[in-house]
Amino acid sequence: MDDRSILLAEAELFIRRCYAELERTEEEAELRLKEIVREIEASGTYTHTYDELRHGARMAWRNSNRCIGRLPWDSLHVIDKREAGTEEEIAEALIEHLDYATNGGRIRPTITILKPERGERPGARVWNEQLIRYAGYGGEDGERIGDPASLEFTQVCERLGWRGERTDYDVLPLVIQLDGGAPKWFELPREKVLEVEIRHAGLPGFDELGLRWYAVPAVSGMRLEIGGIRYGGAPFNGWYMGTEIGARNFADEGRYDKLPAVADLMGLDRSRRSTLWQDRALVELNVAVLESYRAAGVSMIDHHTAAAQFETFERREKEAGRDVTGNWAWLIPPMSPATTHVFHKRYDNTIVKPNFFYGKKPYGAAAVSASTAGVCPVTGAKSEESAAAAGEPREQPETRETLRGRSAHSGAAGAPSGCPFH
Ligand code: ARG
Repeated sequence: MDDRSILLAEAELFIRRCYAELERTEEEAELRLKEIVREIEASGTYTHTYDELRHGARMAWRNSNRCIGRLPWDSLHVIDKREAGTEEEIAEALIEHLDYATNGGRIRPTITILKPERGERPGARVWNEQLIRYAGYGGEDGERIGDPASLEFTQVCERLGWRGERTDYDVLPLVIQLDGGAPKWFELPREKVLEVEIRHAGLPGFDELGLRWYAVPAVSGMRLEIGGIRYGGAPFNGWYMGTEIGARNFADEGRYDKLPAVADLMGLDRSRRSTLWQDRALVELNVAVLESYRAAGVSMIDHHTAAAQFETFERREKEAGRDVTGNWAWLIPPMSPATTHVFHKRYDNTIVKPNFFYGKKPYGAAAVSASTAGVCPVTGAKSEESAAAAGEPREQPETRETLRGRSAHSGAAGAPSGCPFH
């Protein structure tokens, strides 16, 4: 199949499903498809209507196998900024996104969709992994400042001429690239970045750790694909689940590594692992995160409530006649997973489109190459092997994804491509 036939096949699959879900008639879908055929013949691509864009983005969230927070997928706020034609306009759009999404703490799930790929032109790309993230610095003397997850990107920003204050919580600039041109960076105005100071009323000395985190997790390093159209710049946000911060960002040895400090404040015996000092410290750290966001009036969900909402999502999808796909290794929370129903179930990790994908990193020699081997060109269904080859996972240790993910990946067993349509 050549590129145009693949695009048309993907468009057909999407338009029929989208129009059916939006309760449009089959005639409307067929008419629209005729229009799309003509547009593809004339220009090699086609342009989504706003309704298609909006519902397509919502479907992409609904299909996000790693996300436990999919219940409100149908209320995602979709901002169409495909026309933003300069890096400056894009930066402005992203700051507007943060304003709208932050909403004084009552976070609104939002996506801003920028200029898509078109033939050889890559459209808009945001180099940041998230719109808001802290810089990370590490000197040869072993000195570590900030978030080690941002080491490489921080260097990229510095090479572009940005310079941080070298605190543990320097907010990185936005780096925007349009159609493969030179990237431009933009400082994020500090007043646009809502942050929460993490405190613990019952633990003397905790507040002096000076922990803080931002309110809005806005993933900007993934590509949105709808009906064969690739939107390389489509940052989206929900709200945080407490464990993302308390059991990973602050706790991982390769991140802020705060468990020993918390355990010492609690007076725990760290001479043996079997005192479970790590587990005890984890609980208090996570209580502190949840209580601090609550006190600050910033939306956040705990992992028990998130799992309960996911169960509701699963039931609603079943009622709608759709199968829920999921990645067990990512869906289970990193803390007390067996207290949630998710732990005791299996999930089918087939990739259904529309969806979000990791591609090639736009910078660096260490750029992870996006392998298309083992990916169905029409549906995007891919094997676990090709997912690993594409550089996933990004934030979790290899073992969590590849070992446990694979063992839980029984749903598509027997179907080599895992593709529901072939
Ligand atoms: N885990 C990432 C972080 O800690 C955020 C990923 C998206 N999370 C979300 N709740 N939408 O920053």
